[in-house]
Amino acid sequence: MSRAVCPGSFDPVTHGHLDIVSRASKLFDEVVVAVGVNASKNRLFTAEERMEMLREACAGFGNVRVAGFTGLLTDFCSEQGIAAIVKGLRAVSDFDYELQMAQMNASLAPIETVFVPTAPEYSFLASSLVKEVAALGGDVSGLVPPAVLERLLARLAERAAGQA
Ligand code: PNS
Repeated sequence: MSRAVCPGSFDPVTHGHLDIVSRASKLFDEVVVAVGVNASKNRLFTAEERMEMLREACAGFGNVRVAGFTGLLTDFCSEQGIAAIVKGLRAVSDFDYELQMAQMNASLAPIETVFVPTAPEYSFLASSLVKEVAALGGDVSGLVPPAVLERLLARLAERAAGQA
C-alpha cells in the first residue's frame, strides 16, 4: 500500500491545503494529514482544534486520516510506514525552503518528497494571511471551509474582547 503524508501547521486549514490533500488522495492509497504539534509556537488554534477542523474538512475523502505529530517528521513517517511527503508549491519563492527541507528529510530517512503545484486560484493563499485579513474585517469566506470560517471569526472575536 502506498502511503503519503501531508504535513503542516494548519492554523487553520484553508482551501489551498484541501486542494493539495485532495490531489494527494488520488495519487496514494492512503494519505495522513499530519499536524505539527510544536508547543513552543504561538498558534491561534490548539493542536486538537486544528485536527478537529481538518477531520471535518477531510471527512469526504475515503482514504485520508488526520493525526498529530511531535518531533521530526521523518520519525513520524518511519513509525507510520510512510514513504512520501507531499508538499504544495505556491510559487518559485516556496521552492528554496521546500527543497532544503526535502533534502534534509531525505538525509535523515529513506523518504521522497513529492511537490504538487498549487492550483492557480490558491497561489496567494496562506493561513497567516487569512488570519490577518479576517482580523482586520476582510472577507475570507471563499478561502476556508464554512465551519472553519465560523470558528475563526469566533476565536478572533474572543481575542479582540480579551484585549479590549
Ligand atoms: O504549515 P507549515 O508551518 O509550513 O508546516 C511546517 C512543517 C510542520 C511541515 C515543518 O515545520 C516540519 O516538518 N516540522 C517537523 C519538524 C522537522 O521534522 N523539522 C525538520 C524539517 S527538515
